[in-house]
Amino acid sequence: MKDIYILGIETSCDETAASVVRNGNEIISNVVASQIESHKRFGGVVPEVASRHHVEQITLVIGEALDEAGIRPDELSAVAVTEGPGLVGALLIGVNAAKAFAFAHSLPVIGVHHIAGHVYANQLDGGMEYPLIALIISGGHTELVHMERDGSFRLIGETRDDAAGEAYDKVARVLGLPYPGGPHIDRLAHEADGAVDFPRAWLEEGSYDFSFSGLKSAVINHVHNAEQKGLPVDKANVAAGFQQSVVEVVTTKTVRAAKEYGVHQVIAAGGVAANRGLRASLAEALEAEGIAFHVPPLKLCTDNAAMIAAAGTSMYKAGVRGDLSMNGRPGMELLSWSPSGNAIK
Ligand code: KG4
Ligand code: ZN
Repeated sequence: MKDIYILGIETSCDETAASVVRNGNEIISNVVASQIESHKRFGGVVPEVASRHHVEQITLVIGEALDEAGIRPDELSAVAVTEGPGLVGALLIGVNAAKAFAFAHSLPVIGVHHIAGHVYANQLDGGMEYPLIALIISGGHTELVHMERDGSFRLIGETRDDAAGEAYDKVARVLGLPYPGGPHIDRLAHEADGAVDFPRAWLEEGSYDFSFSGLKSAVINHVHNAEQKGLPVDKANVAAGFQQSVVEVVTTKTVRAAKEYGVHQVIAAGGVAANRGLRASLAEALEAEGIAFHVPPLKLCTDNAAMIAAAGTSMYKAGVRGDLSMNGRPGMELLSWSPSGNAIK
């Protein structure tokens, strides 16, 4: 069979990224231009700054991805681009670049949901075995999804307030750590000699939903109380206590879902899947249950375009095609492209 080469483009947040992937599972090139340095001093992503960087970078990044891959546009099968969700101004840059490139080279363009991209990052090393449970845990999302087969998504649980990564970033800020805070909390938690006891949000019996705002407030109160009393805050122990609460709840719910749905495999996706504590806890708990666990290498956990090309390849094979009326869709739903499943907002 002829090889399928897809050019992936991702600009939904603060990384301008392009990649060429062969047959949905082999990275030929993967270029990521991060803007983190520009957003750091604001303590978060500033949408206007993000859009401006994307405009400056996108053509260069696409050119570099093609050069590195040694692939000519006429050898590509399609262009896959993040259509949503994300920052509207940021999404538009990628979508317009993808449409222009596709039009110029007579290629189909495929609009990919950002979360489908994070999930399909798992296809790029090791692969996905169905049925599976995907834990999507990032700065914007915390979801448990049951996938019966390729291209089918059934949402079984989601956060009712903050995403896990958002809680990480806010807690980090209160502790005076740089943005994005997740990696700093992770590091501090491993250096701690103890852990402050924070609550666990289990919610109702049997629920696969999550809640992190109570935990976040508990951490903020703990820090403020100490400051008011003029007591020192042991940042490492606060980080460790916060991380333990997140890891315990996420691991417990994920393992319970995997058992209830009788899946072969659990995969993790999104920036917080880079967390060492979470990876170790999931690996250990799932091994004890005899359930396979797969998580992409760190650089494929955070935003990149190879994951968009990987999901785009599955959509391409399923016959999904977009057209030149495509727009950035900040509130896009994730719909299955193979039968079964429901939508994820
Ligand atoms: O997937 P991602 O790159 O962007 C979104 O789509 O949100 O995820 C970014 C999030 C940030 O909140 C960041 O703090 C968090 O992932 N993150 C981590 C770690 N590395 C990145 N959180 C916890 N531990 C980490 N090691
Ligand atoms: Zn992401």
